[in-house]
Amino acid sequence: MSDRLRGDGVAGAARPAKERIGKPGRAGLGAVRREFAPWADPAATPLIRFEGVCKRFGDAVAIDNLDLSVYRGEFFCLLGPSGCGKSTLMRMLAGFEQPDAGRILLDGVDQAEIPPHNRPVNMMFQSYALFPHMSVAQNIAFGLRQLSLSKADIQARVDEMLTMVQLTPLARRKPHQLSGGQRQRVALARALARRPQVLLLDEPLGALDKKLREETQFELMDIQEELGATFLVVTHDQEEAMVMADRIAVMNQGRIAQLDTPGRIYEEPVSRYVADFIGDVNLLEGAAVGREDGLWRIACPATGGELLVASDAVLTVGQQVVVAVRPEKIRIDRARPTDVANVIPGEVWDIGYLGDWTTYVLKLAGGETLKTSRANVSRHVVEPVTWEETVFASFAPDAAVMLTG
Ligand SMILES: Nc1ncnc2c1ncn2[C@@H]1O[C@H](COP(=O)(O)OP(=O)(O)OP(=O)(O)O)[C@@H](O)[C@H]1O
Ligand SMILES: [Mg+2]
Repeated sequence: MSDRLRGDGVAGAARPAKERIGKPGRAGLGAVRREFAPWADPAATPLIRFEGVCKRFGDAVAIDNLDLSVYRGEFFCLLGPSGCGKSTLMRMLAGFEQPDAGRILLDGVDQAEIPPHNRPVNMMFQSYALFPHMSVAQNIAFGLRQLSLSKADIQARVDEMLTMVQLTPLARRKPHQLSGGQRQRVALARALARRPQVLLLDEPLGALDKKLREETQFELMDIQEELGATFLVVTHDQEEAMVMADRIAVMNQGRIAQLDTPGRIYEEPVSRYVADFIGDVNLLEGAAVGREDGLWRIACPATGGELLVASDAVLTVGQQVVVAVRPEKIRIDRARPTDVANVIPGEVWDIGYLGDWTTYVLKLAGGETLKTSRANVSRHVVEPVTWEETVFASFAPDAAVMLTG
């Protein structure tokens, strides 16, 4: 299991320190990991740089004039819907596709003339591409044979990888004798076995069940830090990206919609697209009415009144905006609260019990719905809120984010 927090420390709890290889001075608790922020250091030079990169397939634009910097030692996630260009971006970095315009630099060196096998990167493909005639162990050992390692060292490395992906008992099987998830773990082990300095993983955990997926996420984080390597990981799964990444690039149609730490992407999305893509969110449309004490007053037809939102946004009166509020930031009470700026009455329309959380969907006066969620911190709740009750949803001005894009 990993022993530190990622990004802004939104995921997991700090665990005891473990000696780290490759990142001296960063060994220790999550708080230390939080200090890892080379992107904030103007003197730091990126390891990977995309500069104005474009890629078209026929008329279709897969990557649209994209700039991106990834720093040495980063665990970087590319996140976005199907077809947004994630694999294309990675394949260009690995050398399997050529950009139509722009440059890709690795350690300051333009990669345009460098064939894939000479690039200092290793890629695990979305379609694992295992060798069908080789056993699991032989597949994992394949890339090691080109390194000058002794037979015993290769065997030791293969055994270590087999243990990591929990496939030791299946070492002699051929790929066609494995399940999809098992095949994916072989591909992952093969990609990791060479301990590359830059590893590109395209949906490495997509075929695993939830529990194995979570375990492997932490394993990947540990391996990355032990190797001191730079990982670029593609995922569809936003929770996975939040847990693992130092930074996330949220992509939309070949462009980066937002590039930031997990905590900032979640708490400070820059657009409606990002807010909606990451996590659950209520998007309340409204129009700016006026400003007082650092707060914008927003007329919001869905709530039948005005909302107060803390925001430095520069708006003109009447400008259309979207007020984004996460369900867990909204409290619900039976009596109208008097201590919160934004109070919205609603009728309980739907209740979803998730064990650790319960979500309540409220129907508002204008017919729209508002989603709220509450952590189930107690096993026994006296008179829980139930269907068709009228309740009051409330949130503070700084619980919401004002979006203009
Ligand atoms: N070889 C190709 N020929 C034509 N179009 C392609 C080719 N490869 C990718 N595309 C198109 O480019 C766009 C981006 O594809 P890409 O594979 O990068 O998406 P992705 O973000 O990895 O999606 P997914 O999450 O489904 O894997 C898509 O519209 C896809 O159809
Ligand atoms: Mg893909």
